[in-house]
Amino acid sequence: MKKIAIFASGNGSNAENIIRYFKENPQSAEVALVICNKPQAGVLYRAEKLGVPTAVITKSELNDSVFMLELLQQHSVDLIVLAGFLQMIPAFLINSYRDKIVNIHPSLLPAFGGKGMFGRNVHEAVVAAGVQETGITIHLVTEKYDDGAILFQAKTDVTHQDTPDSVETKIHSLEKEYFPQIIEKFFCK
Ligand code: GAR
Repeated sequence: MKKIAIFASGNGSNAENIIRYFKENPQSAEVALVICNKPQAGVLYRAEKLGVPTAVITKSELNDSVFMLELLQQHSVDLIVLAGFLQMIPAFLINSYRDKIVNIHPSLLPAFGGKGMFGRNVHEAVVAAGVQETGITIHLVTEKYDDGAILFQAKTDVTHQDTPDSVETKIHSLEKEYFPQIIEKFFCK
């Protein structure tokens, strides 16, 4: 049974969905810790309500290898899931958790990836570009931003009626459907 740490910065709908999924499938994994860099983020309330330990960390703590590796070891973490985490993962974490850090990105990478492309910005860019489809990408995290091996993608259509809000709703529903299952399939079997 894997122990997961979820890193998140915002609302935390993916974090909550993953926590709930593994509460229902405890033979595969358990979310042992939620790490957040924003003291007021919704993800903290969601995790606390579900009885999952949380840690709020500063940027300098994130970049402190002794601090971070001890925190993760205290909770016996063997897999890191980035679910809307908006800070760069330091190299020491990528080295210590090689091929065990997974991210979800709300577009079909390499389209609409790279610096500044997160959450709402991605959906605005998708609508502005007038593309006919978008989707989600679940990928390993490496030293290069949005560039690790792609494990899974799912698509949805974009029509002339779509707005950034409606695209976001479609993306969240794909994320909800697939992210926990893909974590389980690639890391917990
Ligand atoms: C998700 O849509 C996720 O794909 C995106 O942030 C959102 C977080 O929502 N991640 C990125 O943009 C990473 N570049 P949530 O806080 O409700 O889970």
